[in-house]
Amino acid sequence: MRGATNGSSTSLWMDTATVPVFPPLAGSQEAEVCVIGAGIAGLTTAYLLALQDKDVVVIDALGVGAGETGRTTAHFFPPDEWYHGIERRFGRVQAKLVAGSYARALQMVESIVRREGIACEFEHLDGYLVAQHDDDQPALERECDAAVRAGVPAELVSGVPGLGYDTGPAVRYPGQAQLHPLKYLDGLARAIIRRGGRIHGASHARRIRGDHRRQVVTLDHAEVRAQHVVVATHTPFNDRVVMHTKQAGYRSYVVGLRVPHRALPHLLLWDLGDPYHYVRLASGIDGDEVLLVGGADHKTGQDEHPGHHYDELERWARERFPLARELAWRWSGEVMEPNDGLAFLGRNPMDDDNVYLITGDSGNGMTHCTIGAMLVTDLVMERPNPWSALYDPARKPVHGLGEFASAQANVAARYGEWLSGGEVESVQAIAPGEGAVLREGLRRVAVYRDPEGALHALSARCTHLGCAVHWNGAEQSWDCPCHASRFDTEGNVLHGPAPTPLAKIVLAPGDAPPPRDRRSRARRGV
Ligand code: FES
Repeated sequence: MRGATNGSSTSLWMDTATVPVFPPLAGSQEAEVCVIGAGIAGLTTAYLLALQDKDVVVIDALGVGAGETGRTTAHFFPPDEWYHGIERRFGRVQAKLVAGSYARALQMVESIVRREGIACEFEHLDGYLVAQHDDDQPALERECDAAVRAGVPAELVSGVPGLGYDTGPAVRYPGQAQLHPLKYLDGLARAIIRRGGRIHGASHARRIRGDHRRQVVTLDHAEVRAQHVVVATHTPFNDRVVMHTKQAGYRSYVVGLRVPHRALPHLLLWDLGDPYHYVRLASGIDGDEVLLVGGADHKTGQDEHPGHHYDELERWARERFPLARELAWRWSGEVMEPNDGLAFLGRNPMDDDNVYLITGDSGNGMTHCTIGAMLVTDLVMERPNPWSALYDPARKPVHGLGEFASAQANVAARYGEWLSGGEVESVQAIAPGEGAVLREGLRRVAVYRDPEGALHALSARCTHLGCAVHWNGAEQSWDCPCHASRFDTEGNVLHGPAPTPLAKIVLAPGDAPPPRDRRSRARRGV
């Protein structure tokens, strides 16, 4: 059954799992640790701390798995930059450390699944990196060599077995894994409660204030006083600028096509394309299986008509897997891409030592969030952790300076939009179920026309740092192209770092049609 979520599309996971719903937090509560965010990062952290007998409270603006964990494709794979990219940026010693942390994260998830008896379709399988173009062979060889130097048992093979088409040479990474993310979260949440932890949904943290002894997390009508606060909200809301110059938000797309049971081998597949494609299989609903094909990423808020990404993924899938049947699912999610390819896990550089971040998933959320949970647990428990310097959120962007510079240039260009005209001349050009930005004098107004024809007008000024939001037709949301804040059609925050909703706007006379006009336009579908 589907609960609250941060978009209008429905993932396979939402249709095939239930997660517990927890009441909002009320009044003033005390805890040793307050975890903000009930996705894989937050719940894994809370679980590991509960195992250490810490008194933990988890709060989430929506509910368990309602953020990006319900939209991931939940597979474990090598770093998004591949080992060759990590070695080039960080050196061989650090690349080995990265490989070790990835292996330990996977072991941790498997151990939790077994200890808590979580039926989440956890499965080990091989992963294959394939070429996109004929001249990609040297890149595959470089990656295989770098992976082996990092201690990964990778090998170069002549092709991927059992797919029914010639993939060409590939790097094989044995022992990767996949699972059903919401079934996993369901098990984690129940295990936290069994160990005395508390979880609250519909509880939006607005502010963190305090000192090294105690922090106060303020919600709309409640608060939590805690010795430690872990911000696991995909991108931090408690940091105004610094962390948002170190990472950028991307939308990523998934299509799910039904395929006959066991017609394809269970494996993971990624290509070297840009934007790239990946493949995994999952259980369907009626005994069949679902071929999930994902990728086609683009910067958040920088493509207003993203439906073509679904079409491109489906076309790519059908060209390679002619046995695929009907398209049954399609959804999108958010990826935070760190400038240097590694997540930011540890103490928040802009806060006291008792406020921690888990962010910068790099499209590898299952792995990075689990590493983050392990690392932050060690910091809270005042234990040494071998990866604390590697993933330190305070690290300088020396390993990704080029990406840092181009990301800042991209953001700067977005502020220039305030000088340009609107996307449409008037509200008459906005069809039911669509949104567009129009200019009204000096202001830009984000206008959504609902399926009944009524208009919903908001200020287009993002409440984070003032960029102009853009319509996202795939998720019926207003997305900010600067640092990936997202808002629903009423202006409510779906994804940070924006701290507050978009301001509601009363349209100028002439723009807001009287009710009779609205009805007649709705019938015409204009
Ligand atoms: Fe930073 Fe919108 S997210 S300005």
